Amino acid sequence: MEIKNKVIFVTGGAGFIGSHLVDRFIQEGAEKVLVYDNFSSGSLGNLEQAKESGKVEVIEGDILDYKKLEKSMSGADLVSHHAAELEVFTGIKNIPHDMKVNIEGTVNVINACLENEVKKLIYASSGGVYGQAKYLPEDEEHALLPHWPYGVSKLAGEKYCTMITQLHGFPTVSLRYSIVYGPREWYGRVLTMFIKRVSEGKPPVIFGSGEQRRDFVYVNDVIEANVLAIKNNSVNGDYFNVSSGKATSVKELAELVLKAFNSDLKPVYDDPPEGEASPYQPERKRLVGELIDFVLDTKKPRDKLGYEPKTGLEEGIKKEIEWYLKNRQAWEREPRV
Ligand SMILES: NC(=O)c1ccc[n+]([C@@H]2O[C@H](COP(=O)([O-])OP(=O)(O)OC[C@H]3O[C@@H](n4cnc5c(N)ncnc54)[C@H](O)[C@@H]3O)[C@@H](O)[C@H]2O)c1
Repeated sequence: MEIKNKVIFVTGGAGFIGSHLVDRFIQEGAEKVLVYDNFSSGSLGNLEQAKESGKVEVIEGDILDYKKLEKSMSGADLVSHHAAELEVFTGIKNIPHDMKVNIEGTVNVINACLENEVKKLIYASSGGVYGQAKYLPEDEEHALLPHWPYGVSKLAGEKYCTMITQLHGFPTVSLRYSIVYGPREWYGRVLTMFIKRVSEGKPPVIFGSGEQRRDFVYVNDVIEANVLAIKNNSVNGDYFNVSSGKATSVKELAELVLKAFNSDLKPVYDDPPEGEASPYQPERKRLVGELIDFVLDTKKPRDKLGYEPKTGLEEGIKKEIEWYLKNRQAWEREPRV
């Protein structure tokens, strides 16, 4: 479906990825963008640019408040569902909470779409649905063995979307993001830790050997994938990886950040047990059940959506740093893990 002149409802629209989507929907000529967010992690600051258009309406609400959600969605043509509980540790410590927000919340969004006769739903899924990689790059046929509650709940949300397309013919598309980065990224993941520390003259701290490989996808490429999925009417009920498809080791990532700052600091290596912090970086604990390698294949979205990731990591990191240096307050909070 087209975006021009449409009313678009974005859950989690005040967050990192959601707010970039809102910007893009305005650029694409949407009639109105309704942002539905409980502000647990999102901020109005992320929407400053979009609000200047006069086409953005912000509704403070929770996806678990079904009545409000259904009422607020009235008149929407398209729903982009980005609200979620993303914190892996929170999910591990409190599985019922993770399950409620990501599964019940998603089911609420689907029901509200059906009640409001919405024409299409895009669901922000995650590469976390795969668990530990059995081979690289992980394609969409890779085993679905999530090893965190977060991956289980995101997978359940995705299964509800594909199932509802089969059952009711209601168009949904699920997009499995790898590690999304760029301006407005929230503080807590490895790239943000490196950027903040190096900007303060402290060395990046690498857990383990630094050989772990990751797939960093620039936020504008993710937004492009969303737009392609919205506009393509032949992929309903389908699911796609959205990634760079490129493997970057954590060590290489640290080197890129140091290069961007023109810094001659040397990374510090430490091997704290899972769930514990390093004395060199007490602010952030090491994840439990860390992924060894995580690289998602891009063949299916290239073939079926015409997706082509455009921003290289070196360039993207520079853009994130540029944004961070103007918005240091955004990362003053405790890191999210
Ligand atoms: N950032 C990534 O690398 C990444 C990777 C894979 C998948 N995803 C998915 O993309 C989506 C957006 O992620 P993000 O990185 O922009 O995170 P984010 O935390 O910046 O955005 C999530 C937004 O949802 C809001 N929210 C949370 N719980 C809510 C609730 N119960 N009701 C209403 N609003 C609620 C938050 O306030 C926030 O604005 C999520 O669904 C996430 O699972 C993100």
